[in-house]
Amino acid sequence: MRTIGVGLIGSGYMGKCHALAWTGVHGVFDDTPIVRRVMLCEVEEGLARRRADEFGFEASTDDWRALIADPGVEVVSITTPNALHAQMAIAALEAGKHVWCEKPMAPSLDDSERMAAAARASGRVAILGYNYIQSPAVRLIARLMNEGAIGRLTHFRLEMDEDYMADPEAPFSWRAQASSGYGALDDFAVHPLSLIATLIGAPAQVFGEMSKPYPDRPDGGGRREVETFDIATALLRMADGVSGTIQVNRAAWGRKGRLQLQAFGAEGAIVFDQERFNEVALYVAEGPPETQGFRQILMGPAHPPYERFIAGPGHQMGFNELKVIEAHELINRILGRPALAIDFDAGLLIERTIHAIARSHREGRWVAVNEA
Ligand SMILES: NC(=O)c1ccc[n+]([C@@H]2O[C@H](COP(=O)([O-])OP(=O)(O)OC[C@H]3O[C@@H](n4cnc5c(N)ncnc54)[C@H](O)[C@@H]3O)[C@@H](O)[C@H]2O)c1
Repeated sequence: MRTIGVGLIGSGYMGKCHALAWTGVHGVFDDTPIVRRVMLCEVEEGLARRRADEFGFEASTDDWRALIADPGVEVVSITTPNALHAQMAIAALEAGKHVWCEKPMAPSLDDSERMAAAARASGRVAILGYNYIQSPAVRLIARLMNEGAIGRLTHFRLEMDEDYMADPEAPFSWRAQASSGYGALDDFAVHPLSLIATLIGAPAQVFGEMSKPYPDRPDGGGRREVETFDIATALLRMADGVSGTIQVNRAAWGRKGRLQLQAFGAEGAIVFDQERFNEVALYVAEGPPETQGFRQILMGPAHPPYERFIAGPGHQMGFNELKVIEAHELINRILGRPALAIDFDAGLLIERTIHAIARSHREGRWVAVNEA
């Protein structure tokens, strides 16, 4: 039977999610080759060895170029900070490897363009970690919208909020450095934009605003100026004239993983929130007014690929299972099967949109996405 060899660069928050996905994907999806966890790379050899042992990787290294050069590595998972994605992804593609790179692509649009060009030139598969598009709920929403359950789309609103930067005394980290990007735009706005790309289409024009809730953060013994924006808002105009908004805030106390979508149509509405991602609320404008209302649909085996994980309806899937589905879609794409994924070309449109939002913030005017 065919096996597939993977290498993992970075073993922090997302690195563990990739490691678990690679561990589980064959057991969940029986049309998947057996995954060989070949090599794990971290900044320091001792850490790399520990993580490799924990996650079941055969070898470890502190040199990501050695991981990419290893002939047993067919797919490279990149889960390092944003500023490192471009050099690692491009080197992997040039070495003939497939790439699964965490979002966003890169802080600069030039680097994102170079990544997309490298993917095209390589003929290899390169996808981004836009896990939220993978849930059974989002697949159901796509189906409902395509089948006209809420009629013609008239307006949409997406919000993404978490509170890991809400404490003004949270220490300075790479996320507060301009080298990581704009801040909430790269960290968060790209996720709502991945849902918009999957469910609605491509924004044509944007009007953006960004703000910094805290000017500095503790760093060593002193304080260091925050270079990124933790809050961002954008008005969106789609090519067909439909309007929408995205509002993102990584300093939103009380919000833990909120990614809320409201889609309004001529005949109904859909509401979804990632904090309750096993549920979809559907409103259909029909029947007598006294019994009209949102219907709460609980995910179960009727909502693929839920049934791959557990037979019982309403037993709830979790975040790491989205990463297992994402790994499966990546393998589908590698094997030439239909696959749901945001590849580097589709990711580039998302990057252009956030750069257009930032430009609109700087220049105080509507900006066309293709101007960015
Ligand atoms: N898809 C999602 O929902 C999601 C969620 C969180 C983070 N992310 C993305 O994942 C990426 C990583 O974020 P994180 O929260 O896991 O960060 P993290 O700081 O927890 O982990 C990054 C890891 O990379 C390692 N690393 C840094 N430089 C390295 C190098 N040269 N070689 C090898 N390893 C190196 C670090 O030691 C660290 O363990 C970011 O791009 C972030 O935007 C995606």
